[in-house]
Amino acid sequence: LVDDDSSKGIFRVNRRAFTDPDILALEQGQIFERCWLYAAHESELPLRGDFVVRTIAQRHIIIVRGTDGEVRGFFNTCTHKGAQVCRESSGNARGFRCPYHSWFFGTDGKLTTVPQEEAYGPHFDKQKHGLVEVPRLDICHGFIFLSLAGQGQTLPEWLAGAVDILALVAAEGEQGMEIVKGSHSYKIKSNWKLLLENSSDGYHLAPVHQRYLGHLEEMNGADEMRRLSGSVKTTVTPLGNGHCAVETTPPLGGRITAYWHSTFGEHRRQAVAARRSWFAERYGEERAKQICDTARVVQIFPNLMIQDIMVTSIRQFFPTDTGEMIVNAWALFPKNQDDEDRKMALEVFPIFLGPGGFATPDDIEILESCWQGFANKEVEWHDNSRGVHRDQTSARSDDESQMRAFWRQWDTMITGRKGNSVANVVPAPALGLDAAE
Ligand code: FES
Ligand SMILES: [Fe+2]
Repeated sequence: LVDDDSSKGIFRVNRRAFTDPDILALEQGQIFERCWLYAAHESELPLRGDFVVRTIAQRHIIIVRGTDGEVRGFFNTCTHKGAQVCRESSGNARGFRCPYHSWFFGTDGKLTTVPQEEAYGPHFDKQKHGLVEVPRLDICHGFIFLSLAGQGQTLPEWLAGAVDILALVAAEGEQGMEIVKGSHSYKIKSNWKLLLENSSDGYHLAPVHQRYLGHLEEMNGADEMRRLSGSVKTTVTPLGNGHCAVETTPPLGGRITAYWHSTFGEHRRQAVAARRSWFAERYGEERAKQICDTARVVQIFPNLMIQDIMVTSIRQFFPTDTGEMIVNAWALFPKNQDDEDRKMALEVFPIFLGPGGFATPDDIEILESCWQGFANKEVEWHDNSRGVHRDQTSARSDDESQMRAFWRQWDTMITGRKGNSVANVVPAPALGLDAAE
């Protein structure tokens, strides 16, 4: 399905990778049930008893900070007859009372109360009926991940080079970062991997985002826009395991954290400069440059995008069908942010990143158009070869190397083969795919 032959300038993906329901089933088993997946942010669970419920890889999972302070994940299903023990999407609780027959589970998952327990006789053991915990859960710089696989790479091994990038994102708040209450949640009628590609695709900006670029031009003036875009340097860094960072410096549009931009207003210039100095003192100039003067889009395989630009968004998506996905997005802002900064951040966030903003609707429309285009089954290939000849030297953000990093990992996980050149392909046993495909 992945035809990767850089020596001939070829990198293409068979459209069946998007449209075939058998492939979707393989993705579920080989990718979503094996990878570490983002689940929540620690700031959503500041107090003991705080919980959120998330749908992750088709499971309903309660992530809760126990009365002992530990964060755990439990499958949201009663061990009696299956009812969901938690029907809120978030809150604070002493434990979870099943609405069906009132079995009560503590925040550590233990079954503590069974009404008329004596009716079960002497062999009934409450300890064996606790909520079932997700096989693995771990936290990296405040980002909570879980894995449905009991074994495999640890979270730091899996995240590889992305660990340090998450550290940079987490460092933006002098007192840490927090998820702003609420989230964006929407469906797109397209394949989930098209959104993955789109989220770090620099090549589509001018054609698809006329509306947003026009808005920026109105705010900044055409001359300033030309000056800014002429001085921007971008780098694309593969981080291992299909993860990738696309970084831009200086950041177009500034960064509310500590990179002043004219749209913030002249009166903010000094406050932003003072904060920038604080970062340099705290972390050293090099690190401060990375934290403050660099905007980044971080792709974490398979389905997490962190847009760390003017403000920071966490976006995650899961397929519900070959041609449908659910997207959830959260704003991640500095804790105890200055009131004026917070107000500006809350205004900026929906303008570019929100589902009703200047950019996302245009992305959704074009991704749905690609999906409709895929109905033409006579056309076989999806092309990802832009900049293939530059991969080893100077990958650019308007190339597609970040997508190739994703697809190489995808191919390895779906087919179990490494170094996926079509020339030495072993047919995948699960589907008996022909090597020439
Ligand atoms: S299903 Fe939960 S108590 Fe019966
Ligand atoms: Fe876009």
